[in-house]
Amino acid sequence: MLLSLREVTKTYPGAETAVLRGVSLALEAGGMLALTGESGSGKSTLLHLIGGLDTADSGSVAIDGTDLTPLDDPGRARLRRGTVGVIFQQFNLIPSLTVAANIAFQARLAGRHDAAHAQALAQRLGLAGHLDKYPEQLSGGQQQRVAIARTLAPRPRLVLADEPTGNLDEATADTVFALLCELVAETGAGLILVTHSERLAARMRRRMHLSAGQLT
Ligand SMILES: Nc1ncnc2c1ncn2[C@@H]1O[C@H](COP(=O)(O)OP(=O)(O)OP(=O)(O)O)[C@@H](O)[C@H]1O
Ligand SMILES: [Mg+2]
Repeated sequence: MLLSLREVTKTYPGAETAVLRGVSLALEAGGMLALTGESGSGKSTLLHLIGGLDTADSGSVAIDGTDLTPLDDPGRARLRRGTVGVIFQQFNLIPSLTVAANIAFQARLAGRHDAAHAQALAQRLGLAGHLDKYPEQLSGGQQQRVAIARTLAPRPRLVLADEPTGNLDEATADTVFALLCELVAETGAGLILVTHSERLAARMRRRMHLSAGQLT
């Protein structure tokens, strides 16, 4: 199993109620899943636990059979770089780097930079004419496409996308969503996509809803 969560719980320090109360989930290689839930229901928290950006209080999170729970921060970071790619809602591009350097950034960190692959991604995402620009010179939709290219460049086996189209107008969101699904499907990676949009969630084969700390 690419991803396996068992009875994961999480309460933030100082908080009275648990965000996650026994979340279990399995995703096979190449599986795609839309994750919905009200604001504050814990969707980003769940992605952070899967991506190794934070740790669960109890339960286990395993990627390719490797449990993240006992790993230290560098161990989780290594696993994340090689296997898991995260696309954030706020793009998180590096303002001082060109589009080309932004796209190559994660792949270089992971020791997996492949210029031809990066070029092909840029082409597919309509960024070929923007490679020497800086993020601030791009529209929101273009910046989000750079963020997608950057995440896909190291060829992650699992892509976590946290509202990747939340900041975009409907038409741009549709285009970016379709491209993301297409590119992920081509690489055979798994995808968990958080979205507030019922319209976009309805287009994915598998859907899960987070409510009161549980997945249904
Ligand atoms: N670092 C943190 N420290 C303390 N509480 C947090 C932290 N991050 C999130 N929370 C709380 O945990 C709950 C879940 O937050 P989370 O960001 O996971 O929700 P979400 O479903 O992603 O919401 P949204 O749709 O608005 O992005 C919220 O009540 C939030 O206030
Ligand atoms: Mg969130």
